[in-house]
Amino acid sequence: MSRKALITGITGQDGSYLAELLVAKGYEVHGLVRRVALEDPGHRLRRITTVRDQIVLHAGSLESFPSLFQVVRQTQPDECYHLAAQSFVSYSFDDEFSTLNTNINGTHYVLAALTAAAPECRFYFAGSSEMFGKVEETPQAETTRFHPRSAYGISKVAGFDLTRNYREAYGLHASSGILFNHESPRRGYEFVTRKITAGAAAIASGKARELRLGNLEARRDWGHAPDYVEAMWAMLQQDTPDDYVVATGETHSVREFCEMAFSLVGLDYREHVVTDPALYRPAEVDMLVGNAAKARKALGWCSRTDFQSLVRMMVEADCCAAGVEPGNRR
Ligand code: NAP
Ligand code: GDD
Repeated sequence: MSRKALITGITGQDGSYLAELLVAKGYEVHGLVRRVALEDPGHRLRRITTVRDQIVLHAGSLESFPSLFQVVRQTQPDECYHLAAQSFVSYSFDDEFSTLNTNINGTHYVLAALTAAAPECRFYFAGSSEMFGKVEETPQAETTRFHPRSAYGISKVAGFDLTRNYREAYGLHASSGILFNHESPRRGYEFVTRKITAGAAAIASGKARELRLGNLEARRDWGHAPDYVEAMWAMLQQDTPDDYVVATGETHSVREFCEMAFSLVGLDYREHVVTDPALYRPAEVDMLVGNAAKARKALGWCSRTDFQSLVRMMVEADCCAAGVEPGNRR
């Protein structure tokens, strides 16, 4: 019999790649989606079109314990990947309350539902390098102290602690990935990498003239999302649950990302990127770079995509969508 996996956040960037990976591995894949997604599949299920016919979707919400409990009871998953969250850091400054409610209670509800209705299920929590925030050492590893700088980061520290506590208190096979930023052509347009590659393509095609950004000096450890979902899966194949940093080990600035993306469409970013103080965050995470030695040793995982290849693949996808050849300016 095939193993059953339940993915929350299956419509997001990571959920879509993970669903494809698990379907390819022969899993019976179930996904939790908001009811509104089922009513607007063309737009809201766009990232999972390739596997739509091979997965089962269930309506539910992170805000509702009964909906989560029912999905868990019905599906009886062997593995649960809890990816759903309000994931946009910037928005968490606009609405701390809903970010904390959704992310902390949502994680708590999923853990409680599993413990009650499917206690043998293995659980993955989508932790984040945002938990390191104002970093206390470089590079950041599993042993680095957390110092979150946003309601989003705080909600992820709480989710991480809840996950550890369900492991210790109730014996749940519960692991957290501390994933550094990972991107792809499926990245949401609100995140800086996609904003830059879509913006560069729009300018190259003549549809836009400028791109407004915030802090260009922030540095991130950017990897490729399909590589990262493999680490999630590998964590749940371990006999013992644990926590792992997943990162490339390289850091680049937003400015460097702009420079490379615009040069790939034959443009100089300095002529098009406008710095807008309104896009600065009240508290910034200045620099992130991860040490994934533990994941490499225990899971045999390593990042396979370098920075240049990542930027190129995202620019090419956005140029294709905008009807412009990379390197050709209209
Ligand atoms: P994403 O593209 O923003 O996807 C978020 C998913 O969560 C979507 O499927 C969304 O559904 C769902 N969701 C949000 N609120 C929900 C609610 N109230 N009820 C049910 N579903 C809800 O995020 P991602 O980049 O794939 O990231 C996946 C997870 O990893 C997130 O928890 C994120 O915080 C974490 N993470 C991401 C990164 C990264 O660099 N990508 C790094 C570290 C950690 P809708 O489609 O209906 O909105
Ligand atoms: N979004 C955005 N838009 N960010 C900008 C902009 C802009 O116009 N201009 C500069 N930035 C800077 C932000 O200030 C931040 O320092 C950096 O670009 C990256 O921002 P995002 O792409 O929004 O990602 P993030 O690092 O805040 O959060 C992402 O990675 C986390 C892991 O570290 C998200 O995917 C989180 O969900 C994830 O946990």
